[in-house]
Amino acid sequence: MDTNVRPDTMQRITTTALADAFIAEQVAAIRAQVGDKKVLLALSGGVDSSVVAALLIKAIGQNLVCVHVNHGLLRKGESEQVIKVFRGEMNANLVYVDAVDRFLDKLAGVADPEQKRKVIGAEFIRVFEEEARKQQGIAFLAQGTIYPDILESHGVKAHHNVGGLPEDLQFELVEPVKLLFKDEVRVVGKALGLPDNMVYRQPFPGPGLGVRCLGAITRDRLAAVREADAILREEFDKAGLAGKVWQYFTVVPDLKSVGIRDGKRVEEWPCILRAVNTKDAMTATVEDVPFAVLQVITNRIVNEVKGVNRVLYDLTPKPTGTIEWE
Ligand code: XMP
Repeated sequence: MDTNVRPDTMQRITTTALADAFIAEQVAAIRAQVGDKKVLLALSGGVDSSVVAALLIKAIGQNLVCVHVNHGLLRKGESEQVIKVFRGEMNANLVYVDAVDRFLDKLAGVADPEQKRKVIGAEFIRVFEEEARKQQGIAFLAQGTIYPDILESHGVKAHHNVGGLPEDLQFELVEPVKLLFKDEVRVVGKALGLPDNMVYRQPFPGPGLGVRCLGAITRDRLAAVREADAILREEFDKAGLAGKVWQYFTVVPDLKSVGIRDGKRVEEWPCILRAVNTKDAMTATVEDVPFAVLQVITNRIVNEVKGVNRVLYDLTPKPTGTIEWE
């Protein structure tokens, strides 16, 4: 039997009871597969890796070693939440790697988007490999592969973003959610007790804010993208748009225009807001965000985000725009 094919008889996981049954089955399967050996997992804080982490913690506790790499391109509060949930609440064996300077130094002056992606992907593998080598007795590598990854790429987690994991680390794979669709992974995550803002998180690209700080990344402009993004998310939450809109974020281009601050003409960046809906990310429509909400967001961003004097709302569907700006 091909273990990468979802059997026709497999029931869609839509309820807590079905999720509980799946969890019990997987906990037993994981224990049978790994015994008392150690398992390594790259824990980004995304839905898939978080659900895999929670499942493995339930199955093998401290024998799961979670590595969370902070590459400096995460959203505000993301690493803190991973630490709080997994170390604080689930008692996970979590290694936090502060690789912010490493990534930002490598990215300095790199303006081409594909080159930026390559640098981020390659550096991620390097950091993860270094951490893997520091750990003793790892025999397995857990991955948050889900069924669409298998369907789209014959088993290679291609969308997963930062270029996949090291190939020369000869570990056997543990992929407990590989036959599940995204909505099922969320139901399982909920049943495992993960917080809603992790389980229902909007998609976030592997290169993170790196592709939203257009052109060559600088620390000050990256901070502007992150702060503006946090305001956008907060206001979408308040307006009841979080969970309704498929993906929403901010972009800060590498250009300045004149504006007025404290009675003086000053050159600062514009900040672009993007909020789109889609089924499969191949095409997308723009969310009709109430003007009053856009005004509140604009007001907050120009007053609270250092270096930003204008806010624009991107009205372009895909095509002709892509969802991201680079
Ligand atoms: P585009 O911009 O191509 O985006 O319309 C479609 C979806 O893919 C996400 N995206 C990425 N995800 N690594 C990722 O993991 C990437 O390099 C990347 N680029 C775009 C984007 O956020 C959107 O959901």
